[in-house]
Amino acid sequence: MTERCDLLITNVHAATMDPSIPGAYGAVEDAAVAVTGGKIVWLGPRKELPDCAPDESLDGEGQWLTPGLIDCHTHLVYGGHRASEFARRLGGESYEEVARSGGGILSTVRSTRAASAEQLYAAAEPRLRALMAEGVTTVEIKSGYGLDLDTELKQLRTARRLGRHHPVDITTTCLAAHALPPEYDGRPDEYIDLVCEEILPAVAREQLADAVDMFCESIAFSVEQCQRVIDCAKKLDLPVKVHAEQLARTGAAAMAARASALSVDHIEYITDVDVAAMAESGTVAVLLPGAFYTLRETRVPPVQKLRASGVSMALSTDLNPGSCPIASLRLMMNMGCNLFGLTPAEALAGVTRSAARALGLCCSRGVLRPGLRADMVLWPMDTPDQLAYEVGALKPAQSFFAGKTVGG
Ligand code: NIG
Ligand code: FE
Repeated sequence: MTERCDLLITNVHAATMDPSIPGAYGAVEDAAVAVTGGKIVWLGPRKELPDCAPDESLDGEGQWLTPGLIDCHTHLVYGGHRASEFARRLGGESYEEVARSGGGILSTVRSTRAASAEQLYAAAEPRLRALMAEGVTTVEIKSGYGLDLDTELKQLRTARRLGRHHPVDITTTCLAAHALPPEYDGRPDEYIDLVCEEILPAVAREQLADAVDMFCESIAFSVEQCQRVIDCAKKLDLPVKVHAEQLARTGAAAMAARASALSVDHIEYITDVDVAAMAESGTVAVLLPGAFYTLRETRVPPVQKLRASGVSMALSTDLNPGSCPIASLRLMMNMGCNLFGLTPAEALAGVTRSAARALGLCCSRGVLRPGLRADMVLWPMDTPDQLAYEVGALKPAQSFFAGKTVGG
C-alpha cells in the first residue's frame, strides 16, 4: 500500500547535521524528505524513497535543506536602548566602568521596569522577526532586566506571548541573578535570598521558565552566590546555564560543570581544567562572538582545546542592548569563523545540533532525521559553506516550522 504524507520535498540536498551520517554536514545529496504531523518521517537518497502519496509536493530545485536555526542565548525582551553608552565606550570607557557608574544592565532595568507589557512586546517583536527572517525556528529568551518579581514575570510572560503569536518556538530562561538591583545595594546575599525564596519559586509555579541562568562575574555575583541559585534551581527541577568567565576567570564554568549545567556561555577566560570539567559533564560551550566583537575583547575562547576535548560548541547572538545589539545569527556564524577559528561546518553545527543541546532539546530538533520536528530551511546555495561565508544577501528560499511553511 502507498504511504501518504503531508509534504514531500524532492530535488534537494540535505545538510542533515546528523553525526551518524559521514562528512562534516552529514550531507545527503539528491535527497527526498517526507513530513507528516509536523515531523520528518522519511529522509534519504531520492532513489530509495518508498512509494509515497503526498498531500503537497515541493521541488527543491537543487537547493540545500538545513535544520531550522536555533538561537540559544538571547535577551531580546527589554525596554529602551543604550546608544549613549555605546558612544561612551567608543570614547574609551570600559563595559565594567559603565556598569559600575549605574549604566549598563541597570540602565536597561530602569527602562524595562518602566515599560508596559504591551510596550515590551512591541519592542521585542522586530528583533524576533529579524532572527526568523534568517531561518531561525527556535529562540531562547532570558529575563534579567526586571530584578524584581513583577518585572521578571512581565519579561517572561512577554517572551511566552511572542512564541504564541509567531511560527517559532520560544524557550524561556529566568536570569533574575543578572545584576544587583539598586534597592539591594550593598546587600547581594539578601538579593540572592529574594531570587531563591520568591522569584524562582513564583516563576516555577507559573511554569514560565525552561531553565535558570546567572551572571557570575565581579560586576554581578560570586561563585558562592551562583552556587546558591543553582541549588535552588535544582530543587525546582529546572536545568541551569551560566554566564561564565566573560571578563575574567572566576571558576564559574567548573562550578557549572559540576552541577551538570546545560551550558556555560561566553567563556573567553576558561582554562584547561575548566575545559576538562565541561568535557566530563557534557556541558555545552556557548560562544558569543557578537559580544566579544562589541566589547572589543581581545581574549578568544580556547576553541582548539574545546574541539580536541570533544566539548560541543554552540554559537548564539546574545542579542541584548549592551554587549550585542545585533539581531543576526548568520553574522554570528561568520564571526565564529573569522574571530574564533571555527570551521563553517562547526558554525552550522553551532546554530543547529549544538544549540539544541545547549537548550536540552537535542531529542526533538537540531538535526534532520526521521522522528524529529520538521523545522527546516531551504537555502539557494551551492554548498553549506556559504552560510558562514556570506552575510546579507543569502536568505532562506523557504523556512518550515513543524512542517508548515513560514510566511507562505
Ligand atoms: O550576555 N553578560 C551579561 N549579560 C549580557 C549583557 C547584558 C547587558 O549588557 O545588558 C551578556 O553579555
Ligand atoms: Fe547573555
